[in-house]
Parts: sequence; structure tokens; C-alpha cells
Amino acid sequence: MRFKPFLLDAWLDQYEHDIEFNLGASTGPTWTVNDILALGDDEVRHRFLNHKLIYGRPAGAGSLREAIAEMQGVPMECVQVVTGASEALVALMWLAAEPGSNVILPLPGFTTFSALPESLGLETRFYRVRRENGFRIDVDEIKQLADAKTKLILVNCPHNPTGATISDADMEAVHAFTAERGIQLVSDEVYHPIYHGRQTKSAARLPHATVISDLSKAFSIAGVRTGWMIEHDARRCQQYWTARAYFSICNSTTGEILSEVAIRKRDIVLKKTQEAATRNLKLLDQSMSEHRDLLGWIPPQGGMTAFPWLVSGDDARPFCQAATEHGILLAPGDCFDAPSHFRLGFAAAGDNFSQALDRFGKFVKSWSAEMVTP
Ligand SMILES: Cc1ncc(COP(=O)(O)O)c(C=O)c1O
Repeated sequence: MRFKPFLLDAWLDQYEHDIEFNLGASTGPTWTVNDILALGDDEVRHRFLNHKLIYGRPAGAGSLREAIAEMQGVPMECVQVVTGASEALVALMWLAAEPGSNVILPLPGFTTFSALPESLGLETRFYRVRRENGFRIDVDEIKQLADAKTKLILVNCPHNPTGATISDADMEAVHAFTAERGIQLVSDEVYHPIYHGRQTKSAARLPHATVISDLSKAFSIAGVRTGWMIEHDARRCQQYWTARAYFSICNSTTGEILSEVAIRKRDIVLKKTQEAATRNLKLLDQSMSEHRDLLGWIPPQGGMTAFPWLVSGDDARPFCQAATEHGILLAPGDCFDAPSHFRLGFAAAGDNFSQALDRFGKFVKSWSAEMVTP
């Protein structure tokens, strides 16, 4: 068994640590341990500094599960804590990997969606999130791909990298279809609830859906490595518990305490991400309108990433490579199987974003001047 190369993380890891303006990241404004602890009370700070560094519980700390359950509006028994949404994806694909089976995924999409099932010998089928279609997630296309061997259909809303969202009615239609066919519906909601246009409700309300989410994106505290699964089916919950006990046993107890504080104070934490994303998206919109001759784009409806493209149709990797020489990190679209595109994250640079866009604008102008020079 082999994994295909993780082009995105290899690219980000090469540049992210010393680039001046990081527009490659898909997260939001940063937080320190101190910032998070300052949101809590003295009791939490005492608990944090004095907790024993022993194994936690495989399902996740009880009080963290309670906080997640309250936020998601489900009973605590439906919550399985995992090490990032990444571990949820490992468990789900592992459990789906029966010989001859297939899974249905978005393209472009987060590479792990396809890399894991492909490494396990599952057939991957893709519905397109096309720019020609305004990055619409097309329910009919999803349905047409399914057959008797389909184990799982994954919807990612808000979608990485395009920022597309799906309407509640369309999500309910996919839910009804999967429930009728006995296919598992997985809703990846790591960018929920950051929206700029049409909002989508969490699929946690839908009895046959499996929700995966985390604190890495909308909450922007990826360093705690907290993710979770919401599952209404008790038999599946038992399977996740067992998978998790084998894969990683439990989360870091230190991260669990910080995670609980962030979730209980989510009004403050999510507001910071939403404000940065809203403010920066306006600036990005202006900047994009100045480069229409060279760059196409569809403003994202949610999340913290946009997926512009070179109108020439050329491969955007040399463009992204040249941008790094101007201190700007973007992510080449070939990391998402869409080579003429690039991903631009607009919430991680925080208050530096307008400076980053100035530099980006200068770079685009110099790039276009080079293009017309014989
Ligand atoms: C759509 C999506 N799902 C899941 C993940 C996994 O993130 P984590 O393991 O930090 O929760 C990512 C990370 O980029 C992502 O973009």
C-alpha cells in the first residue's frame, strides 16, 4: 500500500515557516495558550496548570464532549473526539474499505479525501465543483455517481478550496438519497460557521448524517489538534471508538482543556475569525477587480479560502513559485487537481492582509508585464 504525495502540505511546509505574507494557509487569526486561558476563569487556569499528564478517555474528556454536544445540539453520546478531522477521515475511510466498494468525493477537494481511500484500494468517484457552474455543488451529479457499491458520500461545506456552500434544501436532498440507499453521508464542516453569503445549517440535525469538524479552521487553534465526529447511529459510534482506541488511544489532555475553553467561549473565538475573514474578503474583492485581465475569481460564500485562476488557462505553479520570490505564499491549484487555479487564504494574515495585498498587486503587475515582454 502506498500514499500519493501530499502536494499541498509539501508546498506549504517548504515555504510557510519563513515567508513574509502567508496567503497559502487556510486558517484564521492566531491564538496563544495565554489568549485562550485568559478567556476562562481561575478554576480553568488552575485545572490547566495542574492536570495530570496521563492518558485521557478514548471518546474524549467528558466535559469536552459535553461542550461539543451543547454547541452541536446533540446528545453527548453522539460525540466522538478525535485528533483533528484528519483522524475522523482515517476512521471513516478505513471502515468503508470493503473490496469493490467506492466513495464519492468533491473535486477539487482536500487531498486527504481521496488519498486515504485510494491507499486502501477503494474506488474514488468525483463530483466536480466547477467554476463554469459558479462552484455549485450539484446534487444530481452526486446522485448519478452512486451505485450499489457506494459506501460513502462526502460533502464539504463551506468547501475547501472554493468557499462554495450547499443550500439546506440540497443537503437535505442528499441526506434523503443516502438514507434511502443505505450510503453513509459524511458532512465535513471544518469551516462552519464562517459565511459570507448563503449560510448552511450543520448537518448534525440530520439523523443519518455523520458530521466531522474541528478547532483548526473556524476556531483557528489547529495546534490543539482537536476534531470530532457527530454520529446518531450507536453501532457506528462503537466502531469509531474502537478505531480511535487503536489509532491514537486519546487526545492530548492539555489540548482538551484548551479546546473546552475555546468552545465554551465560542462567541468570542468565532467572532474574531468571522471579522478577519469578512474584512479581508472585502479587500480581496477590490484587489481582484484590479486584475480582471489576468485573474478570474468567484467570491467564496463561506470559509477562509478563495480559488482564483489564471484566465490564460496556464499552469499556476510557476505563478505561485514567482510569488514566493516576492514574499507571498499562495498554494498551486495542482495540489487540488486544478492546475490553472491557486488557493488564496484570506484570514490567516490577520491585520497584515492589506499589506499582503499591496505586495500581491505589485507582484501580479510585474508578472503580467513579464508575460507581454517578448
Ligand atoms: C476540508 C478539510 N477537512 C479536514 C481537514 C483536516 O484538518 P484537521 O486535521 O486539522 O482537523 C482539513 C485541513 O486542511 C480540511 O481542509
